[in-house]
Amino acid sequence: MEIITDIASLRVRLQDEASIALVPTMGNLHAGHLSLVRIAQQHAACTVVSIFVNRLQFAPHEDYDRYPRTQENDCRFLEEYGVDIVFIPGEKTLFPVPQEFQLLLPPVADTLEGACRPGFFRGVTTVVLKLFNIVQPQVAIFGEKDYQQLQIIRRMVAQLNLPVEIIAGQTIRAEDGLALSSRNNYLDNIQRQKASELACNLKKIGESIASGERNFPSLEWSAIERLNMHGWKVDYISVRQNRTLLPATACDSGLVILGAAWLDQIRLIDNFPLVLS
Ligand code: PAJ
Repeated sequence: MEIITDIASLRVRLQDEASIALVPTMGNLHAGHLSLVRIAQQHAACTVVSIFVNRLQFAPHEDYDRYPRTQENDCRFLEEYGVDIVFIPGEKTLFPVPQEFQLLLPPVADTLEGACRPGFFRGVTTVVLKLFNIVQPQVAIFGEKDYQQLQIIRRMVAQLNLPVEIIAGQTIRAEDGLALSSRNNYLDNIQRQKASELACNLKKIGESIASGERNFPSLEWSAIERLNMHGWKVDYISVRQNRTLLPATACDSGLVILGAAWLDQIRLIDNFPLVLS
């Protein structure tokens, strides 16, 4: 495995590769990230994993400074997994000058996560577009864990005619249902025990819909009440169409139930995709 930190060396190293798959990450890798690596390896001769904590997607009051940075461990995992190249650019490599050019995003980026974290998806898409331009992969893998991010990247690729195929990896969970996330590291023991309640409530909504319930606002409201009663502070729980992410109607069959909520100072997000037959 090669660890490359600058763009020129990466381009030279990649120039003769027949096919390249990219897995963009912010590091602190867990089994969720590694599941994406496995998918990448099935789709290309050369797998590149990027590790970069992207300042553009953090608001000033958010956790950019304390975001876990565990490069040594990450590289050990990636080596064990047989990854070909880890690209770890420094701040000055990706942003040698202030990033003045950024993308103008569609309204879907102002809902849900975008409503709670203004500018978040602009930061994500700008850095992902830069990574696509640097690595020029034929395939890139993203997790369903960040469902809205995945849909927005798919749309960016389609509307900007980017020559890359986006492949989704399913959400990898702990035994109690908690979706694996780097931010789970912030949870203490008591918070960790409660953390799966978000996933449980999303799943519960999904099961009610699967068994015929169509009053989505009432399902959303009950879940918010339950979580609030258990000490959470909910940002949103919402039943949406799975592609447009518009509020779902009773006629839709492709759905996703998305949620974000705070446990004390820690914000967790999750979703439950559901296709009705
Ligand atoms: P990060 O949070 O490190 O996630 C990197 C990739 O791993 C994303 O595609 C995310 O959806 C996926 N992932 C995270 N947890 C997962 C889980 N439990 N199961 C499956 N996949 C999971 O998402 C980002 O970084 C950044 O926004 C990035 C796209 C790298 C741009 O900076």
